[in-house]
Amino acid sequence: MENEAHCKKEIRTPSMDTVLVHGTVPFDPVTGAISTPIYQSSTFRHPGLGRTTGFDYSRGINPTRSELERTMALIEHGKYGLAFASGMGAISTVIKIFKPGDHLIVSEDLYGGTYRLFNEYYAKYGFSFSWIDTSNFNKVQEAIRPETKALFIETPSNPMMKVTDIRRSAELMHRRGGLLIVDNTFLSPYFQNPLDLGADIVVHSGTKYLAGHNDTLAGFIVHSRDEIDEPLRNVQKSEGASLAPFDAWLLIRGIQTLAVRMERHNKNALSVAEWLRTQDRVEKVFYPGFEDHPQHQLSCSQTRGSGGMISFYLKDPADVAVILHSVTVILFAESLGGVQSLITYPLVQTHSAIPEAMRLSAGVNDKLMRLSVGIEDANDIIADLDTAFARCKIEQGKKEKKP
Ligand SMILES: Cc1ncc(COP(=O)(O)O)c(C=O)c1O
Repeated sequence: MENEAHCKKEIRTPSMDTVLVHGTVPFDPVTGAISTPIYQSSTFRHPGLGRTTGFDYSRGINPTRSELERTMALIEHGKYGLAFASGMGAISTVIKIFKPGDHLIVSEDLYGGTYRLFNEYYAKYGFSFSWIDTSNFNKVQEAIRPETKALFIETPSNPMMKVTDIRRSAELMHRRGGLLIVDNTFLSPYFQNPLDLGADIVVHSGTKYLAGHNDTLAGFIVHSRDEIDEPLRNVQKSEGASLAPFDAWLLIRGIQTLAVRMERHNKNALSVAEWLRTQDRVEKVFYPGFEDHPQHQLSCSQTRGSGGMISFYLKDPADVAVILHSVTVILFAESLGGVQSLITYPLVQTHSAIPEAMRLSAGVNDKLMRLSVGIEDANDIIADLDTAFARCKIEQGKKEKKP
């Protein structure tokens, strides 16, 4: 009995915070190195004819990347992880498990680069896509066709922060013989694990929260389906968009601090979003952490936090340029999820590839700004916006004075 109790104690599963720090191999078994070695080798010596050490050529497999891929599988609660040179490399690989003639339903409100990849490239090769508001379950049901093979969602969506029901979407797709693919970039595995809610495949732009420092491009696929793992790895090896060893190491290092960074992003975003709501120059703030966000309850039921992304409508589009030129703590740059706060204007940046009518129907208009709240002192971020809004008032006054 005593022994049994002891065994139970031994197999205690470590919490997410611990797993993030240690990965799957907390030290190098040969040298004891605490930091995962960077195997900066394109090729590996064969110990004999027809034999390998498990590694042969780094486009297909590399020890540093393998440790990162196993860690990603672990923290996304999947069986398999694959690491790519960018988020787009990962998304492009996922599509290749389908074939020409297949139909995919896709969130209309999603990263513009994904829209461009699907609509300008895969559509040419015989895939078809329906772009709809996937936060509206009836619309998803209506969009299903006999040849529908997958639903691809971002939740929360980019940039309007709409939340799609992962559980219901997965059930629906499974009933119809399709897959649910979730781009989990905005929340990271720290706040949301779509595979636990029924999703089949998770993709990430690892460039964002996972890397965390606005210094590395990376992408991931995580899943638990045996039948698609080999096909996905073959695409990874054949196309060569695999993540380089040094970048894999940067990702391992970034993931070690994901928990503390995500907590701070979340806390800061809530403070900034609440402050923005009190501002005269702001028409509306989109943040799923607000109790009056239309899908707040749903968000609470499938996430452990609301994340660091906020978008907002200004009352006057003329303020956009003034804000972008006035901010100094917040930087005017694309991307998101790093330690530095970044502000973007989706209309001409992240979502410029999306046709006007579709963009407007999704809510991406000339008044929309997107803010990736960093981990600086929240008071400094707010003071920076406050100064920018004051500047807007001065500029408006000057315009009104002109005859
Ligand atoms: C939600 C989301 N998915 C995917 C991507 C593409 O990732 P990457 O830039 O790493 O290729 C982005 C990029 O901004 C994104 O925001």
